[in-house]
Amino acid sequence: MAKTKLSVVDLLKMKREGEKASWLTAYDYPTARFAEDAGLDMLLVGDSLGMCVYGYEGTVPVTMDQCIVHCQAVRRGAPRTFVMGDMPFMSYQVSDEDAVANAGRFLKESMVDAVKLEGGRRVITRIKAIVDAGIVVCGHIGLTPQSSGQLGGHKAQGRTAESAEVLLEDALAVADAGAQLLLLEAVPPEVAAGITKRLAIPVYSIGAGPECDGQLLIVSDMIGQFQAFTPKFVKKYADVAGVVTAAMKAYVQDVKKVVFPADEHCYHMLEGEREKWETAMKRHAR
Ligand code: KIV
Repeated sequence: MAKTKLSVVDLLKMKREGEKASWLTAYDYPTARFAEDAGLDMLLVGDSLGMCVYGYEGTVPVTMDQCIVHCQAVRRGAPRTFVMGDMPFMSYQVSDEDAVANAGRFLKESMVDAVKLEGGRRVITRIKAIVDAGIVVCGHIGLTPQSSGQLGGHKAQGRTAESAEVLLEDALAVADAGAQLLLLEAVPPEVAAGITKRLAIPVYSIGAGPECDGQLLIVSDMIGQFQAFTPKFVKKYADVAGVVTAAMKAYVQDVKKVVFPADEHCYHMLEGEREKWETAMKRHAR
């Protein structure tokens, strides 16, 4: 039987009942189909697509138009999974009005279920404005890649009691502003556990330990496709880069040695046509 689509209310129920949510990024139709067939609860069309799909060095160059196109593909591939669009850099930083207009594009043009934006107290008015427009918002605090320059690079956050308290205050402010979901990135598990317990809304982890209400990984990391670097919190479940490279090497060899294509890969002429073709060839011979 096809699974029923999860809503934000179901995600809240899962938190209350202690059921962990499984969450991955996805950027394309085939991956979204695999994810839905595998029973993932949630998918994030992350701006990590900048690195994982386009080969950029970071997420900053990613545009709204790129995000929308990838959300559309993922929505088509996973119609029954909770799909979230990630608001790219400069789609919400300038004004509340911009934030609402761009969050609205995600829903109108790609039918996602929620949008995510990075930042704690400094994006509170943005969160309120998007929520007031009737859109489900997921906050994202801790390591926030779009502002990693200000954080001094891709570094874990909240490793001192003082900085952990700042994270808790940000988390509370994000929830008070109306966000219905929160993501913690690269935060010590003991800090994440405290925030998850303190907040009524579901709190998810990417590199924030096992006590959150669910786990997110970047699909390209977990299937072993993205090779530039692997964060400490990643567990690799497959070696797609190894499998695909080996397949391509074998193909190169087969083509060079004329092992491929074999007879079973060819469309032969219809019965009785070959003799006529050879006669025609003779007519055209030099
Ligand atoms: O873009 C993304 O995939 C993300 C994760 C790093 C959380 O925002």
